[in-house]
Parts: sequence; C-alpha cells; structure tokens
Amino acid sequence: MIIKVLGSAAGGGFPQWNCNCRNCAAVRAGVPGFRARTQSSLAVSRDGVNWALLNASPDLRQQINDTPQLHADPKLGLRHSPIKAAVLTNGDVDHIIGLINLREAQPFSIYASDRVLATLHANSVFQVLADGLVPRIEIALDKPFELEGAGVDLGLTVEAFAVPGKVALYLEDASSADFGSQEGDTIGLKITDPVEKKSFFYIPGCATVDEKLGARLKGASIVFFDGTLFTDDEMLEQGLLNKTGARMGHTSMSGASGSIAAFSKLGVGRLIYVHINNSNPVLDENSPARKSVEGAGWEVGYDGMEVRL
Ligand code: MLT
Ligand code: MN
Ligand code: ZN
Repeated sequence: MIIKVLGSAAGGGFPQWNCNCRNCAAVRAGVPGFRARTQSSLAVSRDGVNWALLNASPDLRQQINDTPQLHADPKLGLRHSPIKAAVLTNGDVDHIIGLINLREAQPFSIYASDRVLATLHANSVFQVLADGLVPRIEIALDKPFELEGAGVDLGLTVEAFAVPGKVALYLEDASSADFGSQEGDTIGLKITDPVEKKSFFYIPGCATVDEKLGARLKGASIVFFDGTLFTDDEMLEQGLLNKTGARMGHTSMSGASGSIAAFSKLGVGRLIYVHINNSNPVLDENSPARKSVEGAGWEVGYDGMEVRL
C-alpha cells in the first residue's frame, strides 16, 4: 500500500491567505525551517495505479498537479484519471470543496456518512458531479466495505468509525450545547490491504482520544492524526481567533489530555500529524514545540510525504 500526504495543513492552509501570524509571515518570507502546506488530504493506493482520495481539499487541483501518480495517463485515452474514489471524513470546507475540481464527466465514487451526504445533497453546486457518473455511497459505521469506483476494485477495505468531534462550522446550531453534532459528523478511517494484511488509520479531526478510540488504535502500525493545535488556547494567545481547540472539535498535541500523552501508552508503530493549523508552533522546524513532538516519537506530516506499508 502507498499513502501520499497531499495536504498536511488544516483549513486555510499554510500560509493562510489573510494571515500574518508569526508562522504565516515567516513561510511567506522564505525563512529557513518553514515549509508551505496545502489543505488536508491523503491519497492511498494498493497497486500504485488506481487511487482513492481521503478527503478532497480546496487545494486538490494543485495537489494533483504536484503528484505524478495522480496525473491523467496519456496511454489510457484522451480523458483519464487514476482517482477512482474519494472518502470523506466530515463536511468541513477543507475536506469537501475539492470535489468540485473533479468535475468534467469523469467517473469515480464518493463515500461519506449519511450526515455528510446530506450536506452534499443540500448544496446544489455538487450536482456538477452527475449522479449517474459519480455515485454517492453511504458509509455505514463499523461495517468494513471494499473500495471501488469507475468499475475498478481498489483492493482495499475501509472501516469507518465515529470519533469525538463536532458538526462542520457552517452547520453549527448555536442553540444546542454540542452545536447540533451527531454521530457520523466526524469519522475516522481504517484502511486495510487484505492481501498483505496491512492497515493504517486516518483521523484528521478528533476532539479527544477517549478510552474507546484508544482501544481501537492500540498497537496500530500507522496512525495519521489531528495535529491542528499544539496548545488548546494558541489561537487566543496569538490573537487570531476567539476559540480554543476544544471549541473547534480538535484535541491539542500537548497537555495532560493532549494527543502526545494519549498515544504514549498505545504502542503505535508510526505516529504522523496531519491537519496542522498555521498557528501551530511545530511548523517552525527549529522550535522547542517541534523538538518536543519529535522527541515524543511523532512525525510532522508534510505535503508530498510518501509512506509505504
Ligand atoms: C476545522 O477543522 O475545524 C474546520 O476545517 C474549520 C473550518 O471550516 O475553517
Ligand atoms: Mn479542518
Ligand atoms: Zn497564520
């Protein structure tokens, strides 16, 4: 199995178009130790020929152009794409808007929970992906299914499971304590190659690693995990946004209830942060924060990162 990190940043990307925070200013100025990043997406393939996207970011067009494995193959006709499926983990802007880049009468399958499919149905612009050509397939939680699209069996099994999280920002119900969040609003994915018996987990948004999630991830080979913030209040501290990570549905890296502490007992082979917000000090390769996450055994994902298993 080949996994490509297409985009390692959270919503807004790095730098974010309207942001002059320390990190965004530094990456724009070309300061050594800062690397630009596009928005949150992975691609996965068993054979290196047919691929599935895990989330479809607003930067997908650039990500495809930057990734030769995802280019139209001139040997396979005037119109072709190696992308046969897209699996969505929530309805966030950074995870669904890239679908619009996949128009132009190319067949593939969209997989998402009923909650996320309802969002696609409610936004008529997604009808550019005609139903007959681009089926929308509802994911049932905790029931493994085989990935397929455009008549191709990708040879991979996907199991989706609910993780602690929150409904997409633009769907929040202010009158409700949990903003109207329901099961299926945020899911994690376990992708398995049943022939090689190899699996990895992809969880780009997660509010907390509770006991149930910890038990599921114990002993996993690879987990790509929510790296939005280093500290829960860093956006407040930096004067960027009046919200904590907890309010946004993202656990932080550091702290007693952060991901570093939560994973320290789980015996995971490789831990890789993705969905990293531009405020996060780990984006400075020379920062104490970066040294502390690497010292704790984590890798900081980057665009173009390739993992084979
Ligand atoms: C998030 O990850 O919290 C969202 O992508 C935020 C957003 O939609 O900007
Ligand atoms: Mn996001
Ligand atoms: Zn910024």
